Amino acid sequence: MYALSLLAATACLLLPATTAQELITEDSYFYGQSEPVYPTPQTSGSGAWGEAIAKAQAFVAQLSLEEKTSITGGVSNSSRGCGGNIPGIPRLGFPGLCLSDAGAGVRGTDLVNAYTSGISDGASWNKNLTYQRAYQMGGEFRRKGVNIALGPPMVGPLGRIALGGRNWEGFGNDPYHAGVLAGLAVHGIQDQGVVACTKHFIGNEQETARSILLDSNNVTILSSSSNIDDATLHEAYLWPFYDAIHAGSAAVMCSYNRLNNSYACENSKSLNGILKTELGFPGLVMSDWGAQHSGVASALSGMDMVMPSALAFWGGNLTLSVNNGSVPESRLTDMATRIMAAWYLVGQDSSEYPAPGIGMPANVLVPHTLVEARVPEARPVLFQSSLEGHVLVKNTNNALPLSKPKILSIFGYDAKAPDSITPNPTNRDWAFGLLSSSARYFICGFGNRIAQTCPAPPPIAANGTLYTGGGSGASTPPYISAPFNAIQERAAKEDTALYWDFVNINATAYVPTESDAAIVFINALASEGYDRPSLRDDFSDALVTNIAAQHNNTIVVIHNAGIRLVDQWIENPNVTAVIFAHLPGQDSGAALTQLLYGDVNPSGKLPYTVAKNESDYGRILNPITDIGANGEFYRFPQDDFTEGVYIDYRAFDASNIEPRYEFGFGLSYTTFSLSNLKVACVSGSPSEYPTGQVVAGGQADLWDIVATATVSVTNTGSVAGQEVAQLYLSIPVEGQPIRQLRGFEKVMLQPNESTTVEFELNRKDMSVWDVAAQKWKLTLGTEYTFFVGNSSRALALNETLTLLK
Ligand code: NOJ
Repeated sequence: MYALSLLAATACLLLPATTAQELITEDSYFYGQSEPVYPTPQTSGSGAWGEAIAKAQAFVAQLSLEEKTSITGGVSNSSRGCGGNIPGIPRLGFPGLCLSDAGAGVRGTDLVNAYTSGISDGASWNKNLTYQRAYQMGGEFRRKGVNIALGPPMVGPLGRIALGGRNWEGFGNDPYHAGVLAGLAVHGIQDQGVVACTKHFIGNEQETARSILLDSNNVTILSSSSNIDDATLHEAYLWPFYDAIHAGSAAVMCSYNRLNNSYACENSKSLNGILKTELGFPGLVMSDWGAQHSGVASALSGMDMVMPSALAFWGGNLTLSVNNGSVPESRLTDMATRIMAAWYLVGQDSSEYPAPGIGMPANVLVPHTLVEARVPEARPVLFQSSLEGHVLVKNTNNALPLSKPKILSIFGYDAKAPDSITPNPTNRDWAFGLLSSSARYFICGFGNRIAQTCPAPPPIAANGTLYTGGGSGASTPPYISAPFNAIQERAAKEDTALYWDFVNINATAYVPTESDAAIVFINALASEGYDRPSLRDDFSDALVTNIAAQHNNTIVVIHNAGIRLVDQWIENPNVTAVIFAHLPGQDSGAALTQLLYGDVNPSGKLPYTVAKNESDYGRILNPITDIGANGEFYRFPQDDFTEGVYIDYRAFDASNIEPRYEFGFGLSYTTFSLSNLKVACVSGSPSEYPTGQVVAGGQADLWDIVATATVSVTNTGSVAGQEVAQLYLSIPVEGQPIRQLRGFEKVMLQPNESTTVEFELNRKDMSVWDVAAQKWKLTLGTEYTFFVGNSSRALALNETLTLLK
């Protein structure tokens, strides 16, 4: 098989070019585009990994062939509600594994908290909070007996496609920002003894054609191929995986898409070559659910665990493949060792670790033993994360904060609690009432459906406030603090009279000019399984416009699962304030109310660019809209990432497109000034290329600090608040973006208080990927420019620095 793969790679060059009439009948036609890299490196490591691997090797040495196979493949477990299960080996005291989603808390079970989604966490730009959020969430996974948390972190998609259905599960659209937060999230989860699974590896930027489909001629359409060049892969999509693996992420999930025409879960270049060699990843690669498309090939390419079931390709067939020599036993041993090493690394061999799935009932609607996962210490973290995920982008005439309003008018479908929050044991989306509309479309993302029969998905969740997105990243709320409920509580305390209308698009009768303000709540829905139909919707925009036509102090709150355009009404002078509220989890309304009333000062910043027009996002809009329409020609959908690293603000900067609100932007009720930028080299003259040994996360010296920058931040306003100082670097290499984020620090300051913020830039932060050398390369002898400010376009300060040859 090994030799066959190599042959296939060479042979494809000999194939004649196809004409329009010729049918492409199998994937190996494209095979040569993804270089074959074999064999899979045996896991190795030092320090904590070294100890874990040694224990794993001793354990695996006692296993029979069948036992080794058994721990590589998912099994169903009718008594547990885990998303995936690995059987135990009782004779050796291994209880098996429970795997569960996901990035906003434990999914689909009772007595857990609904955290903010990744996009809110990203909008906080608060490193400590990201760690705390993951740590508290990790505690819940642990108490529920979940061994592997399937997020956070989620760093792919990275937001290449503005309409992407899952962008909200990640931290935002910049690889550096995502990487820093991913590393902290890994630490948070694993400090609780839970394995963090970083996903999706790699290039999974869209939901459209993510899985095998049938076209209208009943022809099979393979998953879309993300065709990514080496430099772009490294400098954008792989970047955050470096951080996650350096932080010790013990599992990685390979994705649904093909990468350079080879399925991501059988891509030897990305798994054996990049992940396990270049990044020195010692842990396990598990398939996304149903993302395995071959037995021997996926084994030899570096996949270690199949989910949710081994039945299709592994299980007995994997044992057979070892017995007949198709898969070397050493590969199977390495799979098992990697899986057990992850288990030992985080200390799950301790008798104190709860039994797998102990708190994950198969069906919460039938009697079961309750396992409470929530702890009081989590509450302030949940709340703070909710608060800091809100981004105030417009605030004219001091519309906000509100001050003891006499009358308030509240509008919009998104103000109230969802019509139902009920457990749905089948699709595990708790908020079925809220997301049921999306659940229908979710199905369309999966195999053997005719692509064109999927109706256009809904742009909004019309029956209640949006606090999470749909699919496996959906959270599981014990309660929802809806904006209207929270505002009512406040109104009761302050003797405010409320008017409201959650239904009508033009609520004329309810907008007395005597109201201090009219607050309009709208949302933008997204879910796993489909890409969004648009970045705005007619109903919500008309609602805002109609209210604004009647009240000159109209405040708009948007619960947005991704980018939401506002240009239909943003320049209307009657729209005085706008908040991107993102997906705040269970404390949504309570947190928002504290911001509206100024108890807390908004401090979130956009982790993406809001354009004026959808077309400003250019070619990064989903390019495959008509798969299947022409039968055979679309059976291997190709998605060329020709824009390279130019996504989000890098693209807007390069094309000089004025955004509506730029990446990194967000207002506060106070003002800040930045001054006194100083940059410095840390030590003499660094080498051009790293020379260190490969550890988890690449060559060790990639992480050495090469330069620092300091800046003073002063609160020049009259209330306390937090500011995010942001550092953007201009790397003096042709083809590099004008500027890219390379540092951010959030600080809390009282009025007139100043502090000095320090940024540390490591070797990789200042390097570009050298394709010829296959290494990260520093630029010596030419000036780098450091820009510091409080958004990607408000960069008041700059300094240069040259690394000496
Ligand atoms: C598919 C999703 O892509 C992945 O993120 C999730 O963890 C698995 N399903 C399990 O639910």
